[in-house]
Amino acid sequence: MARFPEFVQIKEVGPRDGLQNEEKRVPTADKVSWIDLLSASGLQEIEYSSFVHPKWVPQLSDAHEVGNKIKRNPNVRYSALVPNRKGLELALEAGIDGASVFMSASETHNKKNINKSIAETFPVLGEVIRDAKQENKHVTGYVSTVFDCPYEGRINPDKVIRVCEQLFEYGVDDISFGDTIGTAVPPQVENLLNMVLARYPKEKIILHFHDTRGMAIANILQSLEYGIYRFDSSVGGLGGCPYAPGAAGNVATNDVLYLLHGLGIRTGVDEKKIQEATRHIQKKLGKPLPSKSFAAVAGEQLG
Ligand code: HMG
Ligand code: MG
Repeated sequence: MARFPEFVQIKEVGPRDGLQNEEKRVPTADKVSWIDLLSASGLQEIEYSSFVHPKWVPQLSDAHEVGNKIKRNPNVRYSALVPNRKGLELALEAGIDGASVFMSASETHNKKNINKSIAETFPVLGEVIRDAKQENKHVTGYVSTVFDCPYEGRINPDKVIRVCEQLFEYGVDDISFGDTIGTAVPPQVENLLNMVLARYPKEKIILHFHDTRGMAIANILQSLEYGIYRFDSSVGGLGGCPYAPGAAGNVATNDVLYLLHGLGIRTGVDEKKIQEATRHIQKKLGKPLPSKSFAAVAGEQLG
């Protein structure tokens, strides 16, 4: 029988990964009231926005204001996406607790997403990581397209490991592995984790599944069997990368909690509060969100 971890940490990425892919711009006040609900749910980390170029992701151009207006819960780490030195300066002014740097294992996706080759990206991120650590910030490195790329197809895990080696050398605290377009199936997860866990302790490993083909929960179960206990997710299943065609939402926090609590794994997160936060953002977006367990509970309440 599989030996699952007793406790799982969830990072809520809906306010960043979720909203960056929504056509509709959510007013700042609605983001703030939503993040305040999330902050009261027991989550330990919320990625609340992104300090990328506002022309590239206009939906998150109010990152500074959001950071200033949310009610900070001292038990929550408030992190944000930071692409470069300029983004870090703005994020530090806005009072982030954690900086998330990001790049891709795929050369083409990296170029489309951040306008640089992988080789050109390394020194930029190296500087950001060094400076963020000097400011005592937690730094997570995202590696995107670790399984498949919308432009290059299947990605060789050696490419993923090369990026990880460099990011760890620069000093990231942990790495989040992105199934950016949600194509992976459990054997791919197994293959990657065999390589990753042979090199790095599981404490430093986070998995970030998008649920494009409904495989994310199966992939999380596979990861749990490897003792992985850190996952990114998004309430309602919001999300996607605007520079990765075909990328649907992140795995829904609601679905992940349903699975984990059903397995007897503790998370510290209150499912009812997550449902409330999901209802809130669903109403603001004015469309049904994809999470099945959210829809099931919402349906029960209607009926
Ligand atoms: P660039 O045009 O190459 O930037 O964009 P640049 O360095 O050449 O600078 C051009 C101008 O932009 C300059 O202004 C800079 O100051 C300004 P000028 O001197 O011409 O007046 N600038 C900025 N302004 C505000 N904030 C900044 C910033 N940086 C430069 N941070 C850049 C390069 C990286 C900025 C751009 O490509 C960009 O913002 N990309 C972000 C794309 C993005 O957010 N993608 C989605 C997130 S990644 C994701 O979703 C995947 C993930 O979820 C994991 C997974 O699922 O796999 C994390
Ligand atoms: Mg993502």
